[in-house]
Amino acid sequence: MDQFLITGACRIAGEVKISGAKNAALPLLAAMMLADSPTTLHNVPSLQDVRTLIKLIAGMGIDIQKEGDTVTCDNSGIDSYFAPYDLVKTMRASILVLGPLLARYGEAEVSLPGGCAIGSRPVDQHLKAFEAMGASIIVENGYVKAKAPAGGRLIGCEHSFDMVTVGGTENVLIAAVLASGTTRLENCAREPEVVDLANMLVKMGAKIDGIGTANLTIEGVESLHGCEYSVVPDRIETGSYLAGALMTAGDVTTTHTSADLLHPVLKKFEAMGATVTHGGEGHDGWIRAQIAGRPKPVDIRTQPHPGFPTDMQAQLMAICCLADGSSTIIENIFENRYMHVPELKRLGANIKVDGHTAIVRGVDKFTAAPVMATDLRASMSLVMAAASADGESLIDRIYHIDRGYEDVESKLRGLGVTIERVKG
Ligand code: EPZ
Repeated sequence: MDQFLITGACRIAGEVKISGAKNAALPLLAAMMLADSPTTLHNVPSLQDVRTLIKLIAGMGIDIQKEGDTVTCDNSGIDSYFAPYDLVKTMRASILVLGPLLARYGEAEVSLPGGCAIGSRPVDQHLKAFEAMGASIIVENGYVKAKAPAGGRLIGCEHSFDMVTVGGTENVLIAAVLASGTTRLENCAREPEVVDLANMLVKMGAKIDGIGTANLTIEGVESLHGCEYSVVPDRIETGSYLAGALMTAGDVTTTHTSADLLHPVLKKFEAMGATVTHGGEGHDGWIRAQIAGRPKPVDIRTQPHPGFPTDMQAQLMAICCLADGSSTIIENIFENRYMHVPELKRLGANIKVDGHTAIVRGVDKFTAAPVMATDLRASMSLVMAAASADGESLIDRIYHIDRGYEDVESKLRGLGVTIERVKG
């Protein structure tokens, strides 16, 4: 397994180009399966998770190609509705192919994704909604076997999610756009990636009201045509690099991104003493964060959007580890998203976890040590912590980071981090 050798202490400063959002690209790729003519998607990041989903879709006979950051998709050759365990187990968002297969082809056999380091990650909300739309669902041998009602089309319905689920909202939204009749969804996720998906579906001919709110009304249409679309910038990648500035008295400008995607995060950065400026919007926007001394402590609790995003919890904790005071972090979304705590403590952090709450007492600085990445966002918190520590730190299992941060070494080098990938 590859490792990162990071030699600190570095001051993280400079300019970095933000890529398209992994968590938007994945549902957008699934939605391309709905179109009855070719679709083109730009600003698609080159990440392991994206490659896995493309391989899964191609395995169904669909002509899907990635050239640089552009993906083209032609569904005319589809000859299978099967998503195998050996691919789904490596990328749990593969469950997102269930919605388009059911909606357009009336049947699907998709492996259950299983859990991951941060939680059991069930998909009961997805399946409950599909059953409300008339699908028959059987779960056996680790697979979801789904069929649309007689006639082959899902039926529009009124449905309220039991809890806010990003993937559940996306899967059901994708299915509802081709259902017969109107679907009203309540308690939907409002993340920018959900909005991005809805915007592309509308461009393909879907009829969706309430985009960006918790209540979506979808009027089913007979078919959807292809379109050309560009993936929204990655707000978590943006926040991750800006966090590096706050940990090293640095000064980072992120480009090709937009402040309106991560207001809850930027507000916390300002509360910690950073000067945050921004300009432009959409794919042409930029955000700058700079701080002269130690960050101030801050309290956060993760919530669905527009609350503080769980995907920034580890990175914010790493900043709190260096604050001149005590911070309280409450993780409300996932049951096991403190795997980075023991690793940060190996780097000298002072953190006490009690259930969903972590109390972080700031220390002057991190000290170099060998550590292990445990999940995608935890990896980045360890990278930034190691960069701020004096001396050499070796980070193991960095395949986690390759899943979600495009060109991570070159981007970090461009910000002044001394980093080397050690092939394992
Ligand atoms: C998406 O995961 C993101 N992944 C996650 O990002 C992100 O952390 C999460 O949303 C929350 O914002 C992608 O978009 C590919 P959920 P998802 O369904 O859709 C429970 C990263 O680092 N739940 O909103 O799987 C679930 O267990 C990743 O990029 C059910 O109980 O998250 C969790 O506790 C990590 N039943 C909570 O809801 C269900 O049917 C939120 O999950 C679905 C979810």
